[in-house]
Amino acid sequence: MNAPERAPVNPLERLKDKGLLKTQSFIGGGWAAGGARFAVANPATRQVIAEVDDVGAAGAKAAVAAAHQAFQTWRKTSPFERAKVLKAWHALIMENVHDLAVLVTAEMGKPFREAQGEVVYGAGFVDWSAEEAKRIHGETLPTPFPGSRGWTIRQPVGVVACITPWNFPMAMVTRKCAPALAAGCTMVLKPAPETPLSALALAELAKRAGVPDGVFNVVCGEAEAIGPVLTGSDEVRMIGFTGSTEVGKILMRQAADGVKRVALELGGNAPFIVMDDADVEAAAAGVVASKFRVSGQTCVSANRVIAQEKVADRLVEALAEKVKALKPGDGFAEGVDIGPLIHDEAVARVDALVRGAKDAGAKILAGGRRLDDLGGAFYAPTLVEGGGYDLDLACFEIFGPVASVYRARDEAEIIARANDTPYGLAAYVYTQDIGRVHRLSEALDFGMVGVNAPMVGSPSTPFGGVKQSGIGREGGKWGVEEFTELKYVLLGGVEG
Ligand code: SIN
Repeated sequence: MNAPERAPVNPLERLKDKGLLKTQSFIGGGWAAGGARFAVANPATRQVIAEVDDVGAAGAKAAVAAAHQAFQTWRKTSPFERAKVLKAWHALIMENVHDLAVLVTAEMGKPFREAQGEVVYGAGFVDWSAEEAKRIHGETLPTPFPGSRGWTIRQPVGVVACITPWNFPMAMVTRKCAPALAAGCTMVLKPAPETPLSALALAELAKRAGVPDGVFNVVCGEAEAIGPVLTGSDEVRMIGFTGSTEVGKILMRQAADGVKRVALELGGNAPFIVMDDADVEAAAAGVVASKFRVSGQTCVSANRVIAQEKVADRLVEALAEKVKALKPGDGFAEGVDIGPLIHDEAVARVDALVRGAKDAGAKILAGGRRLDDLGGAFYAPTLVEGGGYDLDLACFEIFGPVASVYRARDEAEIIARANDTPYGLAAYVYTQDIGRVHRLSEALDFGMVGVNAPMVGSPSTPFGGVKQSGIGREGGKWGVEEFTELKYVLLGGVEG
């Protein structure tokens, strides 16, 4: 007789501090239950690891009310006090990197090492924002009116509602919430339903750090019920969102009725350009770093590798070797380079894009298949070459572990091909020629250009796109400024 199958161990057992596992929404400083519950599953195993309360529209309304009330006092706190609280939050995040990374890997699958990196990256936005809180200031102005003085002040926008994605369940929360709180705003956050646990753990740490009740609220549940409350409330003055361009447009339309400010970080279609004078080995390593981070599920991921003809063969050869060496698997297993996709629908979508490319004549040089035998939502690290620039693979955001290479003759063709997209988030250029560095970085219609650098995001630099890739910037002084209103004051009757 066969031995009975053992139930798989829940990866959340790895948490050292079980108090970081929260399954209710965080509203007005307390944990709020909801009627229905939804399941959170580990995409590497499809195992349900937790059930979270859905607080629905009622929870969203309560959170907005709590944030509105808290705003009346938080807006008046000294920036030094806000900085102190944010520093304490940062310290607690850094003390709990292990546990926060466990939550990230368990609910969205990225390798544990990468998850630890994300937590540190995310903590950086809290630290930066704490410092920046003290540097929010206005200017004195010349005025044309005799006996007058003019100046500007920067004030918090008000209650901000943010909707964050599952691909960086920690860093996308801190990149929005920390600068908002630094500016004196209060926040209602709705995390992706796939990854609520990371956001809830951040809320628990915010509470422990002394963030006052109502300043930071997290509501979990269905977007269809919660979204319209957030976009429709008069008390919410700004909507922040990271996710697809399609959903961003819906939110923008909904926000238009209340003329709310929007900050949108949307889809991309990043060209990764390799010029004929590039260090080809470095470029191949760059493609792998950019493309296969988070299994290709980032908005800034290299979507089209455009190689100048002279170096294309060498690049493809170097890439094939590197892509074949990548080891997919459960993010908690040793030696795993790339984790699963977020769910089975994502696998089916990526597979359809690769099949479409193959049918159109593209060559599959590595991977090109689902990895169902790994027991989760896995797709093989894949390298595709050719098939034409009008493939769906080249025109739409792949959001999966598929690098696709296309060839181009010269700088003029490369610029035209790279810009031939409605998106404009990140672009990458590999070249050793300083003239090309300037010409290309100026000619590319993208919000960020990495030159001989495969990753662009950091707490101190502006992150965001042009065209249909979004509005606004996160990170650096710009990320904090986004949550402030500029007010002009004119003082008349000044003697002398
Ligand atoms: C994203 O994919 O939206 C964020 C990527 C990053 O911060 O590098």
